[in-house]
Amino acid sequence: MSLAELQENPQIQTYLDKANECACLLGCIEHGARHAKVCADTGRALMAKLGYGGIDMELSAIAGFLHDIGWLVNKDHHRMVSAHLAHQFMSMKEGQPENVATVMSAIGNHGGLHPQPVGTVSAAVILSDFADIHQSRLRKENPVDFDDKDKLHAATQSSSLVVDQRQRTITLELDVDESRFPVNAYFQAFLPRVGAMRTAASTLNSSFRLVVNKSRLL
Ligand SMILES: [Fe+2]
Ligand SMILES: [Fe+2]
Repeated sequence: MSLAELQENPQIQTYLDKANECACLLGCIEHGARHAKVCADTGRALMAKLGYGGIDMELSAIAGFLHDIGWLVNKDHHRMVSAHLAHQFMSMKEGQPENVATVMSAIGNHGGLHPQPVGTVSAAVILSDFADIHQSRLRKENPVDFDDKDKLHAATQSSSLVVDQRQRTITLELDVDESRFPVNAYFQAFLPRVGAMRTAASTLNSSFRLVVNKSRLL
């Protein structure tokens, strides 16, 4: 079972587009095919750099790719819907029950402000999801309507998850437009994500670090 096999399914592409359409109509940030691919690629690379095996890399990519597809049904319950859709899509390709279960539980436990990783694949999804912060994801136009999540995205010009294999550190490096969001205020808005990212890194036997505009904050 590989992500490439699932990507051949046009139904998944349609559902991802629909999920993004629903998110945009709700004024939420982008949750479509771009976010799906970024999370899949980031999760796979993270697992590879930390020395996990091929199956963990592939399952992290699959879970990252499908974790938000449930937005096409409902924002608040998208994790449950995404998990069930992942079960459906993986079963169509005769995925092993153990692998399907790993992906389902990883998807079901991502997101929200305080996600708790339930395993290594779950940790990879949490980290890759939270690391995808970028102003291109913003959909609201009037800053008056921005919540903290929107403000973080509006001010972030680039983000990348950097792994140091030797020191076993996972560093989120962000470039922030300080004219839109002073670094101190940005850090305050980012703080609610830190606990989950630290726990996720710890699940991968690593430490989490945060670097904003070349300055290490954590
Ligand atoms: Fe989500
Ligand atoms: Fe997401």
